[in-house]
Amino acid sequence: MRLENIRNFSIIAHIDHGKSTLADRLLEITGTIEKRKMREQVLDMMELERERGITIKMQPVRLHYKDYLLNLIDTPGHIDFSYEVSRSLKAVEGVLLLVDATQGVQAQTLSVLNMARDLGLKIIPVINKIDLPVARVAETKQEIIELLDCQAEEIVTVSGKTGAGVAKLLEVIVEKIPAPEVNQALEGKKVRALVFDFEYSNHQGVIVYARVSDGTIKVGDELVFHAAGEKFKVLEVGNFCPQKMALASLGSGEIGYIVTGIKKPGQAKVGDTIENLVAPLPPFSGYEEPSPVVWASIYSENQNDLPLLRQALIRLKLSDAALSFEEEASTSLGRGFRCGFLGLLHLEIITERLKREFNLTLVIATPTISYEIVDEQTGEREFVYSPHVFPEDTKGKKIFEPWVAAKIIVPPDYAGNIIKLLNEHEAVLMATENFSVGRVVLSLELPLRELMRNFFDEIKSVSSGFASFSYLLIGDREADVARMDILVNEQIVPAFSRIVSRRKVDHEGQDVVERLKEILPRQLISIKIQAKSYGRIVAARSISAMRKDVTDYLYGGDITRKMKLREKQKKGKKKMQKLGNVNIPQDVFLKMINNSDN
Ligand code: GTP
Repeated sequence: MRLENIRNFSIIAHIDHGKSTLADRLLEITGTIEKRKMREQVLDMMELERERGITIKMQPVRLHYKDYLLNLIDTPGHIDFSYEVSRSLKAVEGVLLLVDATQGVQAQTLSVLNMARDLGLKIIPVINKIDLPVARVAETKQEIIELLDCQAEEIVTVSGKTGAGVAKLLEVIVEKIPAPEVNQALEGKKVRALVFDFEYSNHQGVIVYARVSDGTIKVGDELVFHAAGEKFKVLEVGNFCPQKMALASLGSGEIGYIVTGIKKPGQAKVGDTIENLVAPLPPFSGYEEPSPVVWASIYSENQNDLPLLRQALIRLKLSDAALSFEEEASTSLGRGFRCGFLGLLHLEIITERLKREFNLTLVIATPTISYEIVDEQTGEREFVYSPHVFPEDTKGKKIFEPWVAAKIIVPPDYAGNIIKLLNEHEAVLMATENFSVGRVVLSLELPLRELMRNFFDEIKSVSSGFASFSYLLIGDREADVARMDILVNEQIVPAFSRIVSRRKVDHEGQDVVERLKEILPRQLISIKIQAKSYGRIVAARSISAMRKDVTDYLYGGDITRKMKLREKQKKGKKKMQKLGNVNIPQDVFLKMINNSDN
């Protein structure tokens, strides 16, 4: 395809503003997918994405429109997956900045817009969902004009649902998004492609998703991963329709896949450059390594499954560059993995995939953030990611924790409710600005630990769902926190240990104990649940034993036999209690995380 007829672009937006639905219409109108084969959000291919109605993974697809080849990358909207957005943006020349007409500009609209601006991409503002009676098209237009400093005529209005305006949008895409630029002097001599994603196939090994910048890649070419130094022979190239379709070659400016045949894990990395072996050019600047935000220890319930769990994590990492893990051993949980995630949704998705795709039964410890512990005397520094290794006594130590800068966009009527929440979450309000008609932007700073404590859910609920939120990590600050252990029948359950704000120890202790009491099934023995911090029991509850009288089946008579049986049952119960032999089913671990405090 001639370079001037190629357009590479992404759709970016706040969560649920309709990216995948608009992509559906673009696929349909360009005849990429026949209408009868169309299903909603067709680019959300993972079973989990379809079930939950969210995009987790970016998905490239090529469309033919008139004489043009359009490469579109659909991106996820949830904040946990913004790393996917930043990667896809490096492979394109322009973006459709989609804004839901019923919601207006939201906090993540601002953050994805900043990403696109930083890369100097062409931004096409698009207002979506204009079919809805509650659409506020005029107001949304005004907000976008203020935000982008653009003219009203530059804003395209569409409905991803009905297809209205989508034909016009295609015209704007080919007219406004620049064709890829290529260094003509290198044509035919050198090859350079940026790896922006990859997947793994048992049969074909690593398949990279790449944007070719210089040269042409075809089957049989000998190429190398610049950073990894791993050489390979190209087994197949092609593009996405949205299923993979093999092609004779991938030319400069194009987006597609390359089958490498590499079966060793760890060779392909997103952000790496693929090049040919003759006098390589300087590599692309690549991507910043994603930094995990939350950590959780994952163990298989059956220790014999450890190799299977390791294999599963390696496999998932092959298509999820943001997942990190390393082996760890805990005296009480056995051997498992300390895994780093981009947020709680990312953690939930990975654990769900481990269960579904690899049939593993897991024990998942309460997620935590990372703390840096500095010994005041020796100056020694240590990073702690697991609550069960956090010191019980922190005298003589300074503790540091990550903080975030956050933005909340909300109608002013709800700003008061949100400000009330801030103190509870140790957040500092930095600024309040009016934003367009009838909305304010609150800028604040708060500990990441507090962000993970349902902060976002609480903001949503006190603003009747109107507030939107985005955040950025801004570095470490000193923290006043303590470790809290949860004891079940006098024994610490390491998976439930957590690190909490010292001023909230009592409150949190009661909260956790109460929650565990609610979700732990009753058993044959009575169960005592306690929260302990700094050597002090801060909260306690108990669950009475399930009554199961072993003498039920004996009618009348023989009282001595009844007594004997009851005596035996008592002994049995005692033994279980002494051993702390309480059965904690897997879903209890998951439920504790879902309402988790840390
Ligand atoms: P994430 O990737 O998870 O952020 O979502 P998304 O931005 O891809 O949004 P998606 O396409 O999944 O749409 C979100 C919801 O809005 C779905 O229920 C869609 O049916 C609905 N929706 C999307 N576009 C339109 C539209 O133009 N009109 C109406 N009425 N509903 C729409």
